[in-house]
Amino acid sequence: SSSASSDINGFLNCLSGGIPPSLVQTPSSNSYSSLLLSTVQNLRYTLPGPTRPLVIVAANETAHVQTTVVCGRRHGVHVRTRSGGHDYEGLSYTSVNHKHFAVLDLAKLRSIHVDATRAEAWVGSGATLGELYYAAAAANRTFGFPAGNCPTVGVGGHLSGGGFGALSRKYGLSADNVIDAMVVDAQGRLLNRSTMGKDLFWAIRGGGGESFGVVVSWKVRLVAVPETVTVFGIRRGKNESAVELITKWQAIAPSLPRDLYLRVLVQNQHATFVSLFLGRCSQLVDTMGAHFPELGMTEKDCQEMSWVKSTVFFFYGTADMPAEVLLDRRSQNYYLKVKSDHVEEPMPRGAWESLWSEWLEKPETAMVMLDPYGGRMASISPSATPFPHRNYLYQLQFYSFWFENGTVALDSRLSWVRGVYKFVEPYVSKNPRAVYVNYRDLDLGTNEVEGNVTSYAKARVWGEKYFKGNFKRLAAVKSKVDPEDFFRNEQSIPTLPASR
Ligand code: FDA
Repeated sequence: SSSASSDINGFLNCLSGGIPPSLVQTPSSNSYSSLLLSTVQNLRYTLPGPTRPLVIVAANETAHVQTTVVCGRRHGVHVRTRSGGHDYEGLSYTSVNHKHFAVLDLAKLRSIHVDATRAEAWVGSGATLGELYYAAAAANRTFGFPAGNCPTVGVGGHLSGGGFGALSRKYGLSADNVIDAMVVDAQGRLLNRSTMGKDLFWAIRGGGGESFGVVVSWKVRLVAVPETVTVFGIRRGKNESAVELITKWQAIAPSLPRDLYLRVLVQNQHATFVSLFLGRCSQLVDTMGAHFPELGMTEKDCQEMSWVKSTVFFFYGTADMPAEVLLDRRSQNYYLKVKSDHVEEPMPRGAWESLWSEWLEKPETAMVMLDPYGGRMASISPSATPFPHRNYLYQLQFYSFWFENGTVALDSRLSWVRGVYKFVEPYVSKNPRAVYVNYRDLDLGTNEVEGNVTSYAKARVWGEKYFKGNFKRLAAVKSKVDPEDFFRNEQSIPTLPASR
């Protein structure tokens, strides 16, 4: 539909009025490919073909963002925003349904200004989480920020979709710690918290950024962490009670003190219990002894370090690296498919036994991640932000990654991920199955455009899995701020039909 009326030459001409030509790349330009691939994380979406953008704009000032939006609307070219390129389904730079789209790449808009007196920071959407962690800690060793475990994830996508990590049991999601933002709306206006109004400010903190505008920068609250934190990683095989420990973990981890985050990674037939404790080793040993003696954690498991080094540990599995690795913007690339879920009641031990023997002993490179909620997560109302999944015990990810190209590898990985997802159905969230929008999954459904309008009825199918009752409010915000549905992708929020 959009392709019929889009005018690429007119669009390029319009861009040239406000953006230097070196920042505008088309498939015939020499550096188009390297720019396109510069932040792509999932190798599944790197192949040439019609799903690629017709234009990439590498904005290096806010005015370039405004120009791109204004020109896109004028000439019928839809714009997708890319910050860190870590979308699981590549929606920031590739398109399954729509041809004739442009990518607005924000990687250069990545300045970070920390106000140490107020413990706040303005962060460009193109910054990575690693850069934010590093800058916060450089300003003060006792500053941290609650966000994800992968340092190359972009601030733009992460904060607009929620942002969960090792500090979330203590401080909530990244989005819960956003206090202001600069947004370019569908009319090309630059808005802040007071000029955008309550509804839009609500929507961009967890509703997925792609539907509402372009968030150029965020003002975040930095949170307090002690000078020294303690981490451990304890690995247990099946013959070391791994299944029994996981079964127990389900009820224990979400009710631990907020200073203690204990996740589980299951990979290569082992369960690894990985922890961040906002305190010293001796206190951690006491706390673990009181709540989870079965794990047998002792002082020997402890590693004490600064909070910023703990973020290195969480990603690399070791803290024997300088904190400067957080500044490396190159992501680890592989082919990837993830499905995720939430758990409300502990899965019975028998279910874990079968899950382990039927599914987890199979592919070497698949991983299952269990991330506990509780604490601050559970004390925030499900409608305070678009992220509604506040009251579950934990989130579950079936994370398959591989390195061989081709349909044989792809098909076997997809069927593994989809098979496990089906297997756990009786034990996980229901009506609807609860999925976190930052773990994007196109299996849940994709938009259909009817006339020139994205169908609300079709979008509800995937939308209520991500947002539950907040979906309708997101659609109402969309109707207000982008009634023509300029900002769209395969899972963007549709406008609310007039009759509702
Ligand atoms: P990308 O640039 O691909 O954008 C993602 C989506 O947001 C797209 O739809 C895009 O259009 C939109 N968008 C991006 N920037 C925008 C902006 N400035 N304004 C408006 N819309 C914008 N999550 C988590 O919560 N905890 C975790 O620990 C991890 N860990 C993790 C590890 C790895 C290896 C991957 C690949 C992903 C994660 N994630 C995660 C998921 C991650 O939070 C999610 O993919 C984010 O959306 C990525 O943000 P990027 O800016 O990198 O993505």
